[in-house]
Amino acid sequence: MTPRPLRSLAPRLPAGLLYGGDYNPEQWPEEIWREDVRLMRRAGVNLVSLAIFSWAKLEPRPGEFDFGWLDRIVALLAENEISICLATATASPPPWFSRAHPESLPVDASGVRLSPGSRQHYCPNSRAYRAAAARLITELARRYAAHPAVALWHVNNEIGCHSYECFCDVCAADFRAWLRRRHGTLAALNDAWGTAFWSQAYGDWEEILPPRKMLTFRNPGHVLDYTRFMHDSLRGLLAAEVAAIRAVDPAAVVTTNGLSFHRPVDVFSFYREVDLAAWDGYPDPALGVDDAAFNAFNHDLYRSARGGQPFLLMEQATTQVNWRAANALKPPGQMRALSYSAVAHGADAVMFFQWRASRAGAEKFHSGMVPHFGVEGSRVFAEVETLGNELKRLDALCGARTPARVALMVSWENRWALELESKPIAFSYERIVRHLHASLWAANVALDVVPPDAPLDGYDVVCAPTLYQLTAAQAESLRAFVARGGTLLATYFTGVVDESERIWLGGGPGPLRDVFGLAVEEWQPLADGGNALRLTSTSAGSAADVPCGAFADLLHLRGAEALATFARDFYAGRAAVTRHAFGRGEAIYLATEPERAWLGSLLAEVLRRRGLVAPVLAPRGVEAAVRVGAGAEFLFVVNHTRESQRVDFGAWAGADLLSGAACAGATTLEPFGVRVVRRDISA
Ligand code: GLA
Ligand code: ZN
Repeated sequence: MTPRPLRSLAPRLPAGLLYGGDYNPEQWPEEIWREDVRLMRRAGVNLVSLAIFSWAKLEPRPGEFDFGWLDRIVALLAENEISICLATATASPPPWFSRAHPESLPVDASGVRLSPGSRQHYCPNSRAYRAAAARLITELARRYAAHPAVALWHVNNEIGCHSYECFCDVCAADFRAWLRRRHGTLAALNDAWGTAFWSQAYGDWEEILPPRKMLTFRNPGHVLDYTRFMHDSLRGLLAAEVAAIRAVDPAAVVTTNGLSFHRPVDVFSFYREVDLAAWDGYPDPALGVDDAAFNAFNHDLYRSARGGQPFLLMEQATTQVNWRAANALKPPGQMRALSYSAVAHGADAVMFFQWRASRAGAEKFHSGMVPHFGVEGSRVFAEVETLGNELKRLDALCGARTPARVALMVSWENRWALELESKPIAFSYERIVRHLHASLWAANVALDVVPPDAPLDGYDVVCAPTLYQLTAAQAESLRAFVARGGTLLATYFTGVVDESERIWLGGGPGPLRDVFGLAVEEWQPLADGGNALRLTSTSAGSAADVPCGAFADLLHLRGAEALATFARDFYAGRAAVTRHAFGRGEAIYLATEPERAWLGSLLAEVLRRRGLVAPVLAPRGVEAAVRVGAGAEFLFVVNHTRESQRVDFGAWAGADLLSGAACAGATTLEPFGVRVVRRDISA
C-alpha cells in the first residue's frame, strides 16, 4: 500500500495535515471576517468548509443569485492562504422554495407533511428540490470551480441525517418503479415478500404502497425493500449533486460528510460516489472510553470505505454539543486526544463544527473554535490554537496508511433486516457491533471495517457480529476464507435469513453450518448477565463462570468443540462458545454475548495465534495504533482516560514528536496524554 497524500487526489489542498472547520460567515457582519481570518491563521487553520447553509443568502429569490458576499470571503480566505471546501449549499432549502413547492416537503408514515423552518426539509425524490439544487450547484461551480483556493467540494450536508424516509406519493410511484427493477415480475415480488402469509398477494403494481402506518406488523420484505429504496434515493441525491458539479468541472474533487454509524446510510455504498471519505465525530464525553472506542470504529469504517485512503474528520466539537439531553464538556486535553486518535486511524484532516460559535439559532449552545466568550484567556481557544500549531509537526505522515490483517465485518442490509420488528428480541445492531468492537479495540491491533462482499484475501481474522442476513454468495466468500486458512469468528443469530427475509431452513447459521460445525435450533433472549459461561478444560481462562447475556442460540454440535457451555437454565451444559477446524482455517462461534473482559481475552488469544499483537503494552483505555508512510512509520499512543497511565514502549523507544519527551520502557502518560513516535523503515 503506497502512501498517497490527499493532495495527490486534490492538488489544490495545502501541504500537510488539514485543520479547520465549518465556516458560516453569513451569520456575522463583514467586519468580523477580517478578525476571523486573522484568528484562523493564528490557530493554524488551513481549510474551511464554506456555504453549507447559505442557500437563502446565495439565491434570495428564485433564480436571482447574489454571489457578491461569497466572492469577498473567498478572496479574503485565498489572500490568507486558507483553502476552501466549498459546499453545494443545498442542505436547507430557503423559505421561498418550500412555499413555491409544498410538494417537496417530506411526508411521515402517518401521512403528515412536515413543515419547513428547521433544515433538510425535502423529500429525497422531490423533482423540484433536485432541479433547484442542480441549478444552484451549476451556478456555484461555474463561478468557483476554477478558483485556486477552492480545493474540494462538500456535497449537501450529512445526507440522511433528518430526512431519510418519506412516504409521499412521489416516493410511492418511485418505489414501485424501483420494485419493478429489483424483482422484474409481481410473481417474483410476491415470492420474495412471502405474501402468501396473511393474504397479502399483489395482483397489480399499483396496489403497492410505501409501508405507511399500519394496524400491526408490516410485511418484513416490504419494509426491507422500502428501506433499501430510501437508501438508494439518498444515494441518488448524492450522485445527482456530484454530477452537477462534474458537469461543470470534470476534475472537481468531491466529498460529503457522513454521520458516524448512521442506520439509513450505508457508508460503503455512499462513498463510492465521491473521491474522499469524510465524517462527523461526536463521541459523548460523558461516556468516556466507551465512546472513544466507538469513535475509533468509525474512523476505521470511513477509512476502509475508500480502500484505506486517508479521510477527513470533517466535524467534531471543540467541547460541548447542543443536541443531547445533557451536553457534557470535553475536559482539558480530551479534544486533543480524540483528534490524535482520528489521525492515528488514518485521518489527514482534523476539522470542527464550527469556526465561530453561533450567536443565534438552534445551535447557539454548540461549542465552536472561537467561543462566545472571545479568544483571549479562553481555555477552548487555547486548546484549538495549540493543536493547530502542533499538528504541523506531523506533516511528514500525510498519506501514511494503516495496514490491517483483521477485518470487522458489518453490513447495512443485515442491520436493516435485523432491526425489523417481530423478532425473538428487539435487536440493536449498533449495540452488538459496539460490544464486539470494544473488545477488539482493547487489543490495539489494526483493523479494517468491511462489508460482507469485500475481498477477504488480505485478512487473517474476520469477526462478523450477528450476520443475521446472509446471502449464499456471502456465505461462499466466508467459506472460502476459512478453507484457505482464515479464522472466522461469528456471533449469535447469524445466518438466519437470506436477502429476502426468508429463513434458511435446517437451522442457523444457514449455509455456514458445516463451516462452524453446528446447527442452531432455538433462540433465547437474555438480560445482561442472564446466563454464564462454564469454561471447558480445553479452553484458556479461569475456572469461574463468566457472565454472558443479550441472547443465547441453543445449538447442536456437528463437529465443533465446545470452548464453553451455558451454566444455567434448561440448556445448561450445551455449547455456548465453539471452535471448528474447517479446511486450513477455523471457525469460532459465540452463541451468546460474553462479558467484555473475557471476550477481550478470547479475541487477544485468537489474534496472538496469528502473530497479531499490540505495538506497545498499554492498559485498557489507552489506544495504540501505527501508520505506515514512505520510509517511516508512526506510533500513536493515546490515553483516553482521566487518569495517568503507564505504557511500556518496548521496541518503540524514542522521542515524542509532539513534545520531545522521551518514551522508553514504562512511561507515564498524563490524563488524555498523547505520544507520537517515529521509526524509520529500511527499504
Ligand atoms: C452535524 C451537522 C452540523 C451541526 C453539527 C452539530 O454534524 O453537520 O451542521 O449541526 O451536527 O453537532
Ligand atoms: Zn417523498
